[in-house]
Amino acid sequence: MDTSFHTPVLVEKVCEYLITEPDGVYVDGTLGGGGHAEEILLRCGPRCSIVGFDRDADALAHAGARLGRFAGRVRLVHSNFSALRDHLSRLGIARVNGILLDLGVSSRQIDDASRGFSFQQSARIDMRMDRAQSFDGSSVIHKYDVDRLTEIFRSYGEEKAARRIARRIVDVRDRQPLETTADLAAIIGAVVGKQFVQKSCARIFQAVRIEVNGEMENLKSALKQSLDTLGQGGRIVVISYHSLEDRIVKNFFRDEARTSIPSGHRLVPDEPRIPGLRLLTGKPVLAGDGEVALNPRARSAKLRAAERIGL
Ligand SMILES: C[S@@+](CC[C@H](N)C(=O)[O-])C[C@H]1O[C@@H](n2cnc3c(N)ncnc32)[C@H](O)[C@@H]1O
Repeated sequence: MDTSFHTPVLVEKVCEYLITEPDGVYVDGTLGGGGHAEEILLRCGPRCSIVGFDRDADALAHAGARLGRFAGRVRLVHSNFSALRDHLSRLGIARVNGILLDLGVSSRQIDDASRGFSFQQSARIDMRMDRAQSFDGSSVIHKYDVDRLTEIFRSYGEEKAARRIARRIVDVRDRQPLETTADLAAIIGAVVGKQFVQKSCARIFQAVRIEVNGEMENLKSALKQSLDTLGQGGRIVVISYHSLEDRIVKNFFRDEARTSIPSGHRLVPDEPRIPGLRLLTGKPVLAGDGEVALNPRARSAKLRAAERIGL
């Protein structure tokens, strides 16, 4: 079996934080190449099972083949993990022992030129994880006005030249449509110059991808639903690859771990609250130098984990 689809990140730590019950039911919300799922199944008992989500039908087919030897223990769901609760209830699963979210796109998706995620190869500006969705990168580039483009380039890409790039895109597209990722990269290069083109392209492409796939909203929604779907002592493990995602996870875990609600006044006592989560990681867990040397994608990975309590 071809395992080069995507090298899973922080596998040891994922298993350490996620697995609490050898015969449990685990959700892999981002199945990808199935690397994490395979490792979880190998380390658990014969009755352990996985419900694996992916928006990308191609990834799901690949993971299904890779996990074929665990027949009957893997259920594949072609869906956004933001529909977690509904799918679990349709499968008759009330509570699970763990949820893993390894966010973003896989190396396979980036390396496949036809998906349009990469500025290194020319292709239609697509960037959809789910190819059944009609809204794509070209829609963002052609339909958003300067303010909206600037906003996503700033907030999802942290790009300093956001407004200048947005203006140039609107200028050029008014004369002729931007067909390819190479056209987009050329505009970015013309604005920021040769020296900065690689970094700016990486930031702008990331921003468009996040917008196309609604990544921030999906993450917030899945985090909320994790509280309804994790059993007592169940764990949620999230690996994020950029600061905005990590902040969402950090704040959600922190808020749900609170034992009181601040009154906001020094004479009024804080209101006690039953926490829903217990933090397992204070600071995010990072990959070591050895892993980063073997898998550069691990460089930006941040893992946070928490345990469901208070049920
Ligand atoms: C980083 S890869 C996961 C790799 C996987 N852990 C492995 O071991 O191979 C992320 C995967 O999650 C999928 N994905 C991202 N956001 C998703 C969402 N909201 N719902 C379902 N799948 C999603 C992507 O299509 C991609 O295949």
